[in-house]
Amino acid sequence: MRRIEEEIAERALAYVLDPPSDPNDVIQYASPDDLIAVFDDSVGFSFAADAPAERAESIVAAVEKVIEHSVHTSHPRFINQNFAGPDPVSVVGDWLGAALNTTGATFEAAPVFTLMESAVLSKLGRVCGYIPESDELIPPLPPGLFCPGGSTATLYALQLARHRHQPDIAQRGASGERLVLFVSSAGHYAATKSAALLGIGIDNVIKVESDSVGAMVPVALETAIADATADGAVPFAVIGTSGTTVTSAFDDLNALADICEAHRLWLHVDGCYGGSALFSGNHRHLLDGVERSDSFVWNLHKMMGMTQQCTALLVRDPQQLDRCFAGKADYLFQPDKLYADYDSGDRTFQCARRIDVLKLWLSWKHHGDTGFASRIDHAVAMADHTRARIAGSNGEFAPVSGTFTNVVFAWVPPALRPITLDPAAIADLDPQTHEVLHTLPPMVKAQMQAEGTAMVGFQPIAGLNTFRMLFMNSTVTTTDVDAILDCISEYGANAVASAEQN
Ligand SMILES: Cc1ncc(COP(=O)(O)O)c(C=O)c1O
Repeated sequence: MRRIEEEIAERALAYVLDPPSDPNDVIQYASPDDLIAVFDDSVGFSFAADAPAERAESIVAAVEKVIEHSVHTSHPRFINQNFAGPDPVSVVGDWLGAALNTTGATFEAAPVFTLMESAVLSKLGRVCGYIPESDELIPPLPPGLFCPGGSTATLYALQLARHRHQPDIAQRGASGERLVLFVSSAGHYAATKSAALLGIGIDNVIKVESDSVGAMVPVALETAIADATADGAVPFAVIGTSGTTVTSAFDDLNALADICEAHRLWLHVDGCYGGSALFSGNHRHLLDGVERSDSFVWNLHKMMGMTQQCTALLVRDPQQLDRCFAGKADYLFQPDKLYADYDSGDRTFQCARRIDVLKLWLSWKHHGDTGFASRIDHAVAMADHTRARIAGSNGEFAPVSGTFTNVVFAWVPPALRPITLDPAAIADLDPQTHEVLHTLPPMVKAQMQAEGTAMVGFQPIAGLNTFRMLFMNSTVTTTDVDAILDCISEYGANAVASAEQN
């Protein structure tokens, strides 16, 4: 046998170059007990107190089981979450980054990657309009940094906002004011989690009314700010969302920026999901006004298919990062080192920082701006096809919500057709109809998983479980969309038949 590293790398590369794509191959489902038992023939799943060094052959056998029983998220019928279809170039770029194993903190340890981060962040900053096209292409102080995920970047952004409000907070601690921030009722829970961690408090995240698709209602924001102020609280930030998780709704960023400017509030844009619309000339208008925000989080590991994780936190005034986060560790950030002005390590909370930029840089160089644009356009085209199929289904599928790349809908049993299921109509459903519709998606999903035919997410909308199909994998075709909808029809009918028998 060759070296174990070669055996594992060969299997990983074979998987990336030719991932499972047969119709029943989305997942080889096993219960937790069965899954653990699968490994009994190789190295076993758990570690005993005196865990031995296993033979290389056994470990390689276990690697094959790992691959076999993992969910194949590159499969075109994995339409389950806000990530899917990793770009193969990004996958191998991630491996290369791991092989070079450094931290992006200093020019000293990462000369290539500090410059690369600057080049990519500067390009992202130009794409979102934070810096002019004429700016330096590789500035020592780029307009942001890479972070380990959108939630962490949200935490950083809110700390930046709070720091601008109270510049001595890092030194003296919070002043005792009741700070409040605002996010739409459809916004991501990263806002409340960050507020919890920052000591702002979940109760001080004010959920502003959103419309039936999930976009914040700007006049409701005005009212919420006035109410909070009248109540003695101190507003300091607003989070606008560009691409909500469930329906992909886009807040009107210009309207939010007007309000934030009038009240001197930090405007943070959560573009974790929909930020990538900026790459497409057809869809970038959805983020009009983002250039007026103070910070912007962009998960390239969602729509752009970078491996998890690849998140850029962009900041309109990058000097804020240093002011807010610098710890001035003199053993690491010596100002008299060669090219210390390229060190990015003191502009963030982290010490070690993965070089997530490499996979993005490789992928972008490989696909170019045009390739990035077509990934977005393709995703929206697949969503449009799904919407057209639903509209032409004679009531078998009922649209519920969603826009851009997301389609939220229900499968309707024949006895209930036709039915209107927008969020307002859902609130008026009689309890029996609600119960029938509510229990179907989990049953359909369970059969999909058991048979490995597809994975489609479901979630409550106005309290009713509904399906969500969302697109970003560039290998999805209309045939896949049609097959998934057929699958939902078949399994829905099975669920109704089994309910009738019981
Ligand atoms: C709109 C939105 N914001 C923030 C996040 C959090 O990003 P991450 O999972 O990278 O922490 C998500 C994740 O799905 C999201 O959809």
